[in-house]
Amino acid sequence: MKVLFIGGTGNISTSVSKLCIERGIDLYLLNRGTRKVEIAGAKTIRADISDSAQTVSALGQHKWDVVVDWIAFTPDQVDRDITLFRGKTNQYVFISSASAYQKPPTYPIVTESTPLYNPYWEYSRNKIACEERLDHAYREEGFPITIVRPSFTYDTVVPIAIGGWSEYTAVDRMKKGKKIIVHGDGTSLWTITHAEDFAKGFVGLLGHLRATGHAFTITSDEALTWDQIYKAVADAVGVEAKIVHISSDFIVSFAPDLLGSLTGDKSQCAIFDNSKIKSFVPDFKATIPFNEGVRRTMAWFEADPKRQIVKQETNELMDRIIRAYEQNLPK
Ligand SMILES: NC(=O)c1ccc[n+]([C@@H]2O[C@H](COP(=O)([O-])OP(=O)(O)OC[C@H]3O[C@@H](n4cnc5c(N)ncnc54)[C@H](OP(=O)(O)O)[C@@H]3O)[C@@H](O)[C@H]2O)c1
Repeated sequence: MKVLFIGGTGNISTSVSKLCIERGIDLYLLNRGTRKVEIAGAKTIRADISDSAQTVSALGQHKWDVVVDWIAFTPDQVDRDITLFRGKTNQYVFISSASAYQKPPTYPIVTESTPLYNPYWEYSRNKIACEERLDHAYREEGFPITIVRPSFTYDTVVPIAIGGWSEYTAVDRMKKGKKIIVHGDGTSLWTITHAEDFAKGFVGLLGHLRATGHAFTITSDEALTWDQIYKAVADAVGVEAKIVHISSDFIVSFAPDLLGSLTGDKSQCAIFDNSKIKSFVPDFKATIPFNEGVRRTMAWFEADPKRQIVKQETNELMDRIIRAYEQNLPK
């Protein structure tokens, strides 16, 4: 199989690229080459996807069994891909997001038929608009889409809700014995998936005859409370987390930028029914428990201090929210 990834060296896609090579896929990665990630055996196409002329020239006359765009976020980017790959690929995989699923949910278990509706987060609404554009292209002209909706999938990011992801601020606070914020009572349930587990389901969809026109969620079956998640992160760096529980509404009143990510995502329970991906890819099984995967992730951060990005503005925001919350606590 000859497969093109747009991206391919990121937080999720690196594990997928590696598994493709292991499985003997002829893999091409189109990216700008800014990351120090080596995928031995993959062929590189250097281009900035936002530069059309450069991309067209870099892609040349190639035809593909599968194209996966890891970094399409808006309908105009999807339109660009339809133009680039019409008649040139047998399958086009769009990476959407499970945050597109109905928020707040009217039913607790998410399946692929859960409505797509997120009034709180523009990122999710854009992914929904991309999916609609692709559904249209499939119906009108047979553009061979497959849609994959990952949910909170980690490897080289800090998998928490506040002060993490591409920054290390909350972990740094934990190490220094400072308080950290966990939204709500820390009891709502959330699903976190290691990128290597995601890869096992995802690679099984590449070139899958029955996957055309279908959408899939690929997650672990391990639902954890946010307290368990933060505790596992703290354990992984050998400290105890000093957690302050604060309602999402209170947090968002100080940090409106978190409305989408909290109210529109992590404040809600996220429990997924993975029956569909297991039926299409029978050997898919997530096997990396969070406490094990997060130890690997934290070891990756420990291995190079340059990866440990601590942001002063996040620290100040967390201090401000905690101070305001504690001042108002009943004596
Ligand atoms: N992780 C999650 O929990 C989660 C949940 C839901 C959805 N998603 C979706 O998953 C996708 C992210 O995948 P990922 O984690 O692998 O991505 P990532 O960590 O953001 O990596 C981005 C990749 O794209 C390349 N790239 C970035 N800008 C580029 C450009 N202008 N031209 C060409 N290449 C470019 C990067 O390489 P260079 O920098 O070298 O170009 C890198 O290979 C997104 O669509 C996101 O919405 C993720």
